[in-house]
Amino acid sequence: MAGTKSPEDAYTAAPFVPHHADLGTLREAAAGCHGCPLHREATRTVFGAGDADARVVLVGEEPGDQEDRQGKPFVGPAGKVLDRALDEAGIDPDESYLTNAVKHFKFTHVPERGKRRIHKPPSLRELSACGPWLEAELELIEPEVIVALGATAGRALLGPSFRVTKQRGTRLEGDASGPAHGGLIVPTIHPSAVLRADDREAAYEGLVADLRVAAELLG
Ligand code: URA
Repeated sequence: MAGTKSPEDAYTAAPFVPHHADLGTLREAAAGCHGCPLHREATRTVFGAGDADARVVLVGEEPGDQEDRQGKPFVGPAGKVLDRALDEAGIDPDESYLTNAVKHFKFTHVPERGKRRIHKPPSLRELSACGPWLEAELELIEPEVIVALGATAGRALLGPSFRVTKQRGTRLEGDASGPAHGGLIVPTIHPSAVLRADDREAAYEGLVADLRVAAELLG
């Protein structure tokens, strides 16, 4: 019925995000986040990890199967690609902070694949519900550069009109009132796109080239 609010309209992590907290306190609070239904099926919240004084923050989409099991971002196959590409682009992982736009793993089961959990991308509502966590992380860390890994991270940081194919490898400015607080953003493809590409080598080289744009901004 027109004008009737669906329960999804109420999705937001905002009431779970403590004010004036450090990263450790944010992480603890995020473990109990029920801001959207994704917490019901996921094993745990996968909060960001890395240096609280990081010069660069890398934002992915959502944790995958391995991340959900281990509780850390980018510890699975996409993370291995990312580690190698960061190294090749000259970005020190010890000066980086890794996080995701959405902090819970979303998945489905398909009968022919048995017990395997198959990744599903977050909806726009789940993405915006989780936004307050990303915003709080970026507000505390104040990185010099934010790397958006893929379309979902780009949308979280730059809005729904973001197009990774058009804007990757460029230096963009986040909106002052958005989650990036006016910071510099360099978008690129998601590292898992390298693993899915027909020409993996070309896709990987493209990822490294985009990361070099971020590395140059770091100086
Ligand atoms: N893909 C993501 O976007 N994030 C992770 O942490 C792992 C895979």
